[in-house]
Formats: sequence, C-alpha cells, structure tokens
Amino acid sequence: MNDLDQLVAAATADFDAAPTPAELENAKARFLGKSGRVTELLKGLAALPPEQKKTRGAEINQLKGRIEAALQARRERLADAELQAQLQAEALDVTLPGRGRGTGGLHPVSRTIERIEAIFGSMGFDVADGPEIETDWMSFTALNNPENHPARSMQDTFYVDLKDEHGAWLNLRPHTSPMQVRYAQAHARKHAPAVAAGQAMPEIRVIAPGRTYRVDSDATHSPMFHQCEGLWIGENVSFKDLKVVFSDFVRQFFETDDFDVRFRPSFFPFTEPSAEIDIAFGSGPLAGRWLEVAGSGQVHPNVVRNFGLDPQAHIGFAFGMGPDRLAMLRYGIDDLRLMFDGDLRFLAQFR
Ligand code: PHE
Repeated sequence: MNDLDQLVAAATADFDAAPTPAELENAKARFLGKSGRVTELLKGLAALPPEQKKTRGAEINQLKGRIEAALQARRERLADAELQAQLQAEALDVTLPGRGRGTGGLHPVSRTIERIEAIFGSMGFDVADGPEIETDWMSFTALNNPENHPARSMQDTFYVDLKDEHGAWLNLRPHTSPMQVRYAQAHARKHAPAVAAGQAMPEIRVIAPGRTYRVDSDATHSPMFHQCEGLWIGENVSFKDLKVVFSDFVRQFFETDDFDVRFRPSFFPFTEPSAEIDIAFGSGPLAGRWLEVAGSGQVHPNVVRNFGLDPQAHIGFAFGMGPDRLAMLRYGIDDLRLMFDGDLRFLAQFR
C-alpha cells in the first residue's frame, strides 16, 4: 500500500467512525478542507520538477475522487439510518382496532314528530313552527282564557323576565295552541284579497309540533315537553271529520286496525264542545285500557274571531296531543324522564 492508498484508507475509516452528519463534515475538513491532508499534498506539488508534477498531480486528483466517493457513501448511509430511525419513531400499527365512531340516531321524540308530520302531511295538513317564548295574548287571551284562568298562574306557567308592548309578562308557551292563532291569522291575511273579491277562503289544515313548558315534574310530567297542535277550519268541518282523521292517524301511527276511539266530554276555554280523545287497543301489551291521547274540540267562536275570521262562516276543530306520550306508548317506555336524561344506553336503542 503506497502513501496515497493509506490516505484513502485513513479517510474512509475516519468517515465511517463519524456517528452524525455534523461529525462527518468535521472529518471531511480534515482531508479535503483548506488545510486538510489532500490539500497539503496538492500544495506539495509546487516543489516537484515539471515531469513529476504531471503524474503526481494526476495521482492526487484520483485520490481526491476516491476520498470524495467514500465521503458520499458515508453520507448516504447516515441519511438512510436517520430515515429508518424516523420511520421507527412514527410507526403506525395498522393492525390495531380503530377508535369506533358510534353511529348516531334520531331521538325517539324526533322520530315520533317526524312520523306525525308524515301521516298528517299525507292527509293534506301543513306543518307550522312558531316561537317558544310567547305573549300573554297569544298563549291565553286569544284562546278565550278569562283574565283569572288558573293556567295563567305562576304555578303552571313559566314566565320570562321581559314584558311585551302591553306590559304583560312573556311566557314559555304552556301549549302549542298559540300556533292556531298565529297560523290562522297569517292564513286569513294572505287570503283576504281573494275573499274580498268574493272567492272562498281555502281551508286551514295545519299541525304545529314543538316544545312546550309547564311547572311540573314527575314520572309522567316534564317541565319541558312536546305537544302537537292540529287545526282544521273550513266552511263545514265537523266532529265527524275529526273522528275520521284522528282514527286514521292512530291506525297509521300504531300500525294497527285493532283499536277503539272514544270522545270523552271535557273542557277547554278555546273549544266548545270539548273532548278528550281516548284510544283502547284490542291486543298487545296495552290491550283493554283506555289511554288518553289528545284534547280536542270545536274551535270556540271567540277564537275564530281572534283568527281574524267570521265565526258565522268558518267552523272547525282543533286538537292537541303529546308526542312524548305517543312515543312512550309506541315504544313501551314507562318513565317520561328517560326521554330527556340523555342517557346513551337508553337512546342507543332507537338508532
Ligand atoms: N292546548 C290543550 C292542552 O294543552 C290541548 C288542546 C288543543 C285541546 C287543542 C283542545 C284543542 O291541554
């Protein structure tokens, strides 16, 4: 091995011993840097006679090429090692089980409301939505409640710490019945020009599902609950129509023909006469018991007047039912509070 071969061997060993790219650059400087050993050799050429200069110069250049190749090889190995280490550190075990994202589903009450909307929709009923914070006039006065009616009392109705333009406290609507008034008023306004021109007003046929509030809380009452109002006003709409429509609804909602419907006399300020609607199934777990499912009645003439309509020309009925209760009956749930606890073990059963 001549001195040049020895130098290549020394450089290669030095490079291979460098554990990091930074140390490799230091090792490079020792051989190829300004005062490195190869550079020193090149400087030594100056002292040689011309004929030796040429061969020695060529040899040193070749040596330089070999050292550079050794340097490059080491650089690549270090870069490779670094990449391997990084891959190891960021290793992803694709065989691990994933973090399952549970599938959600509609709340049983939402499902029930959608069902009610679809069934009444198929019978030509519009679906309306309205404010949950109501005026005293909408919740009570327009619905023919006397000034001192107990429904207005603090024990039944939640009040909001704000007054309307007449100085009356706003309330969290205790029923969806104000939607009768809002919807019928808008309907009457919309068709007023046609009616003035001698045309008949189209019938009002609407349901209004939504949240309602009362100061009440036990296994069958929740301070927030749901109602669905129904209103059908025309020139000649009667209790007979109500019975047909409601029976049809029950048939479709509970998917059975095996039930009876009964109208039990009752009282509401906004209807006269008024009736509770009870149903009794002929079979199934609830068979033979009368279950109260809705309040109803022929809309009181005072209320029709508050709709902005002439009670001599317009007659009809209204009903109000509880989607929460309908859901409980349909799914066999015995405690209303389960509906609003947000317990996934309960809710997941309705996915
Ligand atoms: N609003 C009544 C209630 O909350 C239900 C009802 C609606 C009764 C429409 C008759 C007509 O109890």
